[in-house]
Amino acid sequence: MTLNRRRFLINSGLVAATCPTAGRLWAEVRTGLKETFKDRFLIGTALNADVAAGKYPDLTEIIKRNFSSISPENALKWESLRTAEGEWKWADADQFVAFGQAHEIHSVGHCLAWHSQIPDAVFKNANGKYIKPAQLRKKMTEHITTLVSRYKGKLADWDVVNEAVGDDNVMRKSHYYKILGEDFIDMAFNLAHEVDPSAHLLYNDYNIEKDGKREAALALLGRLKKRGVPVQGVGIQGHIAMDGPSIADIEKSIEAYAKLGLRVHFTELDIDVLSREWDSPTADIATRFDYTPERDPYKNGMTKERNDQLSARYEALFKLFTKHQDKIDRVTFWGISDDMTWLNDFPIKGRTNHPLLFDRTHQPKDVYFRLLQM
Ligand code: GLA
Repeated sequence: MTLNRRRFLINSGLVAATCPTAGRLWAEVRTGLKETFKDRFLIGTALNADVAAGKYPDLTEIIKRNFSSISPENALKWESLRTAEGEWKWADADQFVAFGQAHEIHSVGHCLAWHSQIPDAVFKNANGKYIKPAQLRKKMTEHITTLVSRYKGKLADWDVVNEAVGDDNVMRKSHYYKILGEDFIDMAFNLAHEVDPSAHLLYNDYNIEKDGKREAALALLGRLKKRGVPVQGVGIQGHIAMDGPSIADIEKSIEAYAKLGLRVHFTELDIDVLSREWDSPTADIATRFDYTPERDPYKNGMTKERNDQLSARYEALFKLFTKHQDKIDRVTFWGISDDMTWLNDFPIKGRTNHPLLFDRTHQPKDVYFRLLQM
């Protein structure tokens, strides 16, 4: 426990001055992040199916105390929701929505149209050829209408379209795009809005806080607005590194999206503490590299130096978010604790990453206390 953290907790009355251990200290923290940020923006986290099912009572407590919004890590994606034949399997999605209802937490739907985690068979015939545009429209209509209406009034935000801009800063040549062109985006938003007019609808993507892809996303969003498509917010995923993007780039992005009349959300925030020396800025989950021990330097824990850098990076981000709180609706972390982060397996399988606020044993890291007192 650092002196500052201890002093803050004692001064704020959160912990008795005699508190001997960090474990006890944590046990006696009475307010959480959602309280700290309640007048600024929602603070969210993503839940995997086990967490939503309540299999980790300690994590349930952490969520209740700290987070004012939840997102489903996988449960509402096509691949999780439907069998190869198209039958619906609602168990995990229902569980996620029930968790939000039970604990009265703002809940996000993620996502209605995405090129990934969806079977090719949605787009192709048995002979491997693309289905006709009318057939894809029919499938999209059934999918979006069924899903959005099932949870109408229970999911406040929807990530309607995910990652439609490619790493080459032009429209991604996804199956959706190849069959329907950009119209698949208009269609998804129009359908979602028709079914649940009170839901807040977002376009969500990674690296759109960086030069190049930002401009491509702004151009797309500008076209959507011009066509009267009901897009109300932008989700900057925020899967970022320790050394980039810069705070200046992120600030430029917040301002540019807000100027377009969109509410800004950080939807999948995490900070990769491992090196990204390979030549790929991408967060596309299809990208993979080979494991080597040198690429897994914090296998037995973070150094103090790296841990301090992580705290400083998060602190700088939250200072920026606070500065622009009038434009930002929500900041959601992509997960709660380091044992369950996707970054343990991306883009190299089996590494030990430390990107979140809670460690592998579900204890708060220094950064947690730094944010708590902001
Ligand atoms: C993307 C998706 C998320 C998730 C992350 C990585 O950013 O939007 O649903 O799959 O990748 O886990």
